[in-house]
Amino acid sequence: MAETPSIFSGVALVGSGSATPTQSLSNDQLGSRVDTNDTWIRTRTGIEARRLIGADETLTSLCCKAGANAIAMSGWEPESIDLILLATSTPDDLFGSAPEIQAKLGAKNAVAFDLTAACSGFLFSLVTAAQFLKNGSFKRALVIGADQLSSWVDWSDRRTCVLFGDGAGALTLETTNTSKEGILGFQLKTDGSRGNCLNLKQKERRESLLDGISHQVGGYEPIQMNGQEVYKFAVREVPAILETLLKRTNTDPKHLDWMLLHQANQRILDAVADRFDIPHSKVLSNLANYGNTSAATIPLMLDEAVKDGRIKPGHLIATSGFGAGLSWGAALVRWQGPD
Ligand code: UT7
Repeated sequence: MAETPSIFSGVALVGSGSATPTQSLSNDQLGSRVDTNDTWIRTRTGIEARRLIGADETLTSLCCKAGANAIAMSGWEPESIDLILLATSTPDDLFGSAPEIQAKLGAKNAVAFDLTAACSGFLFSLVTAAQFLKNGSFKRALVIGADQLSSWVDWSDRRTCVLFGDGAGALTLETTNTSKEGILGFQLKTDGSRGNCLNLKQKERRESLLDGISHQVGGYEPIQMNGQEVYKFAVREVPAILETLLKRTNTDPKHLDWMLLHQANQRILDAVADRFDIPHSKVLSNLANYGNTSAATIPLMLDEAVKDGRIKPGHLIATSGFGAGLSWGAALVRWQGPD
């Protein structure tokens, strides 16, 4: 008897891609500009260098490279994509950069839009895209995480400028009616009452238009962060949300192949590994080379580990994003890779 097709499909993670700017800025180079040094940055954060978008690149061009890379790995025609989600807080166009990426990739049948949730943006977008696939609305999705925080740091503030870099990463997902489920569970959280720890706020600048009528002038303040508060938040909430996720999915942390966390500080990654009593080497990290690339960190790290063969088809990965909002989340995923 033929099987009745289910409207609820599984979702497979099939392709990854990434792109980073060519310009690199080392800790020593930064130390010649602001009152900091390589030893402080490396020991307090694990960061050794970061990439900055240069004059011949844009965030959109990096997104297109990362997206095209993921599409090629998947063996897809761009026209077969139904959805493009761009996770970013720093689009080249405030109205959204996803439509331009859709056009440049030739994904003419895809609906494309931006989603903003700071450093949690990629995780939130992955889960959002998966819902469209699981409910049968779409079959193929490209999720891109990208940010250009170099535009929004105060380059004279040593407390923030040493932390961030630019980059883009991408992941392709498609529906599957086999048992190869790629998204095994997720948890998402927001606590806006603690949002003042980390902000990229509009400048308060008003101009008078007519008598009694004024308007806001566009423009943003540089990133403001209370590092210690955000650190405490991360080391408390990330293990807690992962613990809930693993409990709800009946997963023993020892059965995870990898943890793939937002890359903000090596000390946070190590603290999470210790909390679950897993070796530090099981928590993927490329923080040393790129710093905190916000919405890009998770797909950038995923792509690197897929390409160098650390992540293999069938591997089980617990991933977690956290940052401004405050927002945080976790997902248990299984990498399938292309057929
Ligand atoms: O992506 C969103 C999520 N973001 C995060 O998860 C970031 C979480 N926070 C952190 O990773 C850490 O709090 C930081 C790396 C931002 C800061 O590290 P910390 O150990 O919390 O340093 P601190 O802010 O407590 O500062 C300690 C000292 C201070 O000097 P005094 O007051 O003790 O004399 C700072 O002025 O280190 C000084 N300092 C620096 N010194 C050299 C701060 N930044 C620097 C620097 N170079 N770049």
